[in-house]
Amino acid sequence: MPLLAFETSCDETSASVVHHGEVLSNVVSSQAQLHAEYGGVVPELAARQHLRNLIPVATSALRQARIEPARLEAVAATRGPGLPSALMVGLKAAQTMAFRLRCRFIGIHHHEAHLYSPWTKGDPLRSDFSDFQPNVSLIVSGGHTMLVHVPNDLEHRLLGSTVDDAAGECFDKAGKLMGLPYPAGPEIDRLAEGGNPDAFDFPRPMIEEAQDDFSFSGLKTSVRYFLRDHPDVLNDPARIRDLCASVQAAIVEVLVTKTVRAAKRLRVGCVTASGGVTCNRALRSELSTACRRGGLQLRLAEQMLCTDNAAMIGLLAERKLHSKAAGADLDADILPSWSLE
Ligand code: KG4
Ligand code: ZN
Repeated sequence: MPLLAFETSCDETSASVVHHGEVLSNVVSSQAQLHAEYGGVVPELAARQHLRNLIPVATSALRQARIEPARLEAVAATRGPGLPSALMVGLKAAQTMAFRLRCRFIGIHHHEAHLYSPWTKGDPLRSDFSDFQPNVSLIVSGGHTMLVHVPNDLEHRLLGSTVDDAAGECFDKAGKLMGLPYPAGPEIDRLAEGGNPDAFDFPRPMIEEAQDDFSFSGLKTSVRYFLRDHPDVLNDPARIRDLCASVQAAIVEVLVTKTVRAAKRLRVGCVTASGGVTCNRALRSELSTACRRGGLQLRLAEQMLCTDNAAMIGLLAERKLHSKAAGADLDADILPSWSLE
């Protein structure tokens, strides 16, 4: 029977209906415009917007899937990590619905859902783990940058994460310094297309270090010093494109080098990547080139599943439901700092 899932951990309100690994609907209402004027996500505003959006979003997810609520086998929601007040909206709505419908509630780890999203492909979107391979997985979003070893399906070990800013945060903060609107990642991606990635030399933090952690705040600071010393760059559209391409190249080179190195060290044959920054075209193409050269299979999350969405929550919840691996009580609380370990 079908399952309804909610995702409200940050600034996307999303609801999805999944059934037997297939995405029947995936409705996402982004709050990006609401937060743009503040240059970042304002938690209180995000929570209030989730309260406004959740019922309309859930209604259209059920309608698009042509599923009556009474048919649902379970209701799932992101339990963490994320913004506490935002998480509470989706979690409590899911628990209340499960209580009313007398069905199961499943609480899902947001990053575990990202982790398995590269295994969902096609139109309609469908999860397929029949050719699962042990892999190293890169999760890159606005709040997190992680490398994870996945030796078996539904079994993972965190290898490293960022010690300061996440890669998406670095894109957003560097873009803010250039005067680009929030979130600046997609805008840098667009402007970088016509630019020269070798025009300006930015640091590649921790690229040579053997461990799998990342650090991006130094790179952001070097963009700040660069603009202090060369303010004229922002008056020239061609040099803005060069700047975007150069900053993007530095971030992408660190992500690709460390991911491929970890995959080789752990002797896996596959690399996967997910999270909002995986939308970045340079990251997708550089990772493809590096994996091809290294004899590694690459699985990138589909663009529509890179940014936050409830389909990935529902698909993982359905697998947990059927594997009896996990669930949660109707009074389970949010876990805003839930570790992937
Ligand atoms: O996974 P996500 O939707 O939300 C979080 O869980 O954080 O990721 C959002 C992040 C933002 O930092 C945004 O700038 C970045 O993903 N992003 C991109 C691109 N599209 C989204 N960064 C670089 N290039 C893109 N095309
Ligand atoms: Zn996310």
